Amino acid sequence: MEIASLAQHQLDQATALSQAENWPHRLQDWQMLMTLSQGRAALRDGVVIGTALRIDYGLDVSLLNMIIVRQSERGQGIGCKLMSSLMDEAGDRELRLVATKAGVPLYEKLGFESEGEIFQCQGEIASVELPDEEISPARPGDTDAIIEVDSRFLAADRSALVQWLAKHARLAVVRGAEGGICGYAALRRFGKGHVIGPIQANSKRQAQNLIRYFAASLTGQFVRIDTDDGLGLMPWLEDLGLKSIDTVTRMRKTPKTDPRPVFGLCSQALG
Ligand SMILES: CC(C)(COP(=O)(O)OP(=O)(O)OC[C@H]1O[C@@H](n2cnc3c(N)ncnc32)[C@H](O)[C@@H]1OP(=O)(O)O)[C@@H](O)C(=O)NCCC(=O)NCCS
Repeated sequence: MEIASLAQHQLDQATALSQAENWPHRLQDWQMLMTLSQGRAALRDGVVIGTALRIDYGLDVSLLNMIIVRQSERGQGIGCKLMSSLMDEAGDRELRLVATKAGVPLYEKLGFESEGEIFQCQGEIASVELPDEEISPARPGDTDAIIEVDSRFLAADRSALVQWLAKHARLAVVRGAEGGICGYAALRRFGKGHVIGPIQANSKRQAQNLIRYFAASLTGQFVRIDTDDGLGLMPWLEDLGLKSIDTVTRMRKTPKTDPRPVFGLCSQALG
């Protein structure tokens, strides 16, 4: 077994690995992650039997994700080697990840600590009321202000991700009294349907209005939102048709920053 860089031409094998776990990622979703990340593959006889990605958010924070080892290869330290290979290159950055139940023991062994739960909510959108405050589509010149808002909530610089979203997703914003952006959300294709996220808002009402803005045009369609359990969007999301089908755990190692809980993750992989 060897650990090597994950190459673009191996992404179909990576997709097969994640689909074997019933994860929804399509080849396009892996390609999107790889445009922003460092990737590692565990190879046996040239075949991908494990993956791990690291995305750097500015100089202080890195996120680890897509950590998968083929079922028949587990329990031999491969997950640990994949993680260590990416962590060694992260220097003294704060490390974040969102862990499945299968991943928690491995991450605890590597020094990560749990910080809270996230509900994975999904389903077909039922009827939706329209927002009761002004939500508008982002303009091309809004990207820098959205990056600023995002990094204030996340305590991390996700410029490259927000720039990707500005090109490939729909972005909606809430403007304050002076016209400045104080909250935003994105809608993009992912897995079986659409994801609404990130959702960065100053109140539950603002988050609900950002969700309504997109959901109103998606009645009957499959939508997913991953939301921090402490922010109280459940059970409102259930009334919208999005049931909680799983919970995952936010974890950090060597914390240095003070991020706020989020109404909507961009995805479990991207925080
Ligand atoms: C999580 C996963 C990547 C672990 O891969 P792995 O190659 O089996 O992990 P390792 O063999 O390196 O295990 C490292 C340590 O983690 C712990 N560990 C890993 N899986 C464990 C489990 N299911 N239960 C208890 N401890 C576990 C063990 O302490 C192990 O240390 P040990 O060798 O001293 O016993 C693998 O189970 C997997 O692919 N799961 C499905 C996908 C998934 O959910 N990934 C996590 C995404 S956040």
